[in-house]
Amino acid sequence: MQTFLVTGGIGFIGSNFILKARKENWANIINLDKLTYASNPQTLAELEDDPGYTFVRGDIAETTLVSQLLEQYQPDAVINFAAESHVDRSIISPLDFVQTNVVGTFQLLETSKSHWEKLSPPKRDRFRFLHVSTDEVYGSLSPSDSAFREDTPYAPNSPYAASKAGSDHLVRAYYHTYGFPVLTTNCSNNYGPRQFPEKLIPLMILNALNGKPLPIYGDGQNVRDWLYVEDHCDAIYLVLQQSQLGETYNIGGNNEQNNLTVVGKICEILDQLAPQAGLSRSSLLTFVKDRPGHDRRYAIDCSKIKRDLGWEPKENFESGLLKTIQWYLDNPVWVEQVLSGSYRQWIEKNYSDREIVRG
Ligand code: NAD
Ligand code: TYD
Repeated sequence: MQTFLVTGGIGFIGSNFILKARKENWANIINLDKLTYASNPQTLAELEDDPGYTFVRGDIAETTLVSQLLEQYQPDAVINFAAESHVDRSIISPLDFVQTNVVGTFQLLETSKSHWEKLSPPKRDRFRFLHVSTDEVYGSLSPSDSAFREDTPYAPNSPYAASKAGSDHLVRAYYHTYGFPVLTTNCSNNYGPRQFPEKLIPLMILNALNGKPLPIYGDGQNVRDWLYVEDHCDAIYLVLQQSQLGETYNIGGNNEQNNLTVVGKICEILDQLAPQAGLSRSSLLTFVKDRPGHDRRYAIDCSKIKRDLGWEPKENFESGLLKTIQWYLDNPVWVEQVLSGSYRQWIEKNYSDREIVRG
């Protein structure tokens, strides 16, 4: 059995990855997470008694801690999910994004490289550093542009995207300069269970359930390519096992949808699964002031990962959205835990001065 050091594994994608890794016997897991606002420590409570799972609270930038963990557990791979990940927060507090996404990734790379250099030859050959990144590094597309490919030039527009682009460049440089065995994945928007409700889909699910307004930025015609989170986890595992060193892979759902369509589908499903007398959820749609620098369209060309590794998304949007909504309905305790005081402060900060454009 392999061992993976997963960073940011209490967050949305990392926690889904760890659950899958344990269920499908991919590896033993050491999970290093700082437990920022975006993480609910109860997310992985079901692994409490699992001897193949260890949780460590800490920051990827803490070099002493990270080198101790590498020394003690001798992982076969480091998988870096840890990040500040919300575009709206990056507009308000960009420094946090530079600190974790750029400086943190740099420290993690540097510490991992020092460890790798000391490994015996067979272990050194096996070792991998997989960096989980985003399609947002490529910037924004017009409706007629072709989808992002791995060789599309980087053109990040938000502080979040710029900080992820910076981390991607460092990862690339460690391969080209030092031969450090890196892999990078650039994925489109994920949805699924355990996503913090600051992002579009869980925010809309919980607001709609509670009869609150559904705030659509701008005209609601911005397009994202939505991928079910477990498909992303499978792709990461496949890249880790089979990719050539230094490769980058784009991962996407072949599923472009504009925001109004996505929110409309959530309303329809909730009206069926959790009807409230006299309420049609779509009446809660509210157009609000747009996000500054709001990217219009993202689309991923994932033909390279299909051709090289045979990966394709398995879930379709209708069934994935249904599963996601059902998960939020079935987990009221988790929801209650994340709707804390600091969450309410964020909602107040981000939404209170977006005047209503039309309701
Ligand atoms: P998330 O915000 O839900 O979780 C991030 C986790 O990282 C949290 O548990 C947080 O506590 C932890 N963390 C933050 N700073 C840390 C630090 N300095 N040290 C250790 N842990 C720290 O994010 P997510 O949506 O799960 O995204 C995971 C990764 O995938 C990110 O790198 C993100 O850029 C990338 N990504 C996300 C999406 C998406 O749609 N969510 C799409 C493509 C790529
Ligand atoms: P988000 O989930 O923040 O992901 P990203 O910006 O990283 O793609 O937002 C997805 C889309 O939904 C994006 O076009 C912004 C829009 N959006 C809203 O219209 N209203 C909201 O309250 C939020 C959070 C997002």
